[in-house]
Amino acid sequence: MANIYIGSDHAGISLRELLAEKLTAQGHAIKTFGPVPGESSDYPLAARAVCDSVLSNPGSFGILICGTGIGMSMAANRMPGIRAALCGCEFQARACRQHNNANVLCLGERVTGPGVALAMAEIFLASEFEGGRHLRRIQMFDNGVN
Ligand code: RB5
Repeated sequence: MANIYIGSDHAGISLRELLAEKLTAQGHAIKTFGPVPGESSDYPLAARAVCDSVLSNPGSFGILICGTGIGMSMAANRMPGIRAALCGCEFQARACRQHNNANVLCLGERVTGPGVALAMAEIFLASEFEGGRHLRRIQMFDNGVN
């Protein structure tokens, strides 16, 4: 079981709360960030809070939710050490862990239904990085190639 930080803006509150409830019931330690219902908020703030927590707690994961998932993924991927993956299907949620060692899953509440979103979160958390040639490739993020 993992420490998981879940953040959203106003467009992702319902999915944030659903995932927090379901993943807590599965035994994960969950901390949430973001607005309460009815409150508007700017997605970079939750992205920063979640990514700071992930970077401070090795082995933990983040889940970021906005309307599309796009703003959250852009904000998160500006932070060195964060590999945030915007996913729309279970294949991507598995592959981003196996091949990219993603440490943050980004979701769009206006794009992805709750059942698929929960399945993606579960697969993301259960999948392992495969290393090898994939490690060489993600190391290029930090060695001046990108
Ligand atoms: C909010 O309206 C929306 O722009 C935001 O949730 C997100 O989709 C941005 O990328």
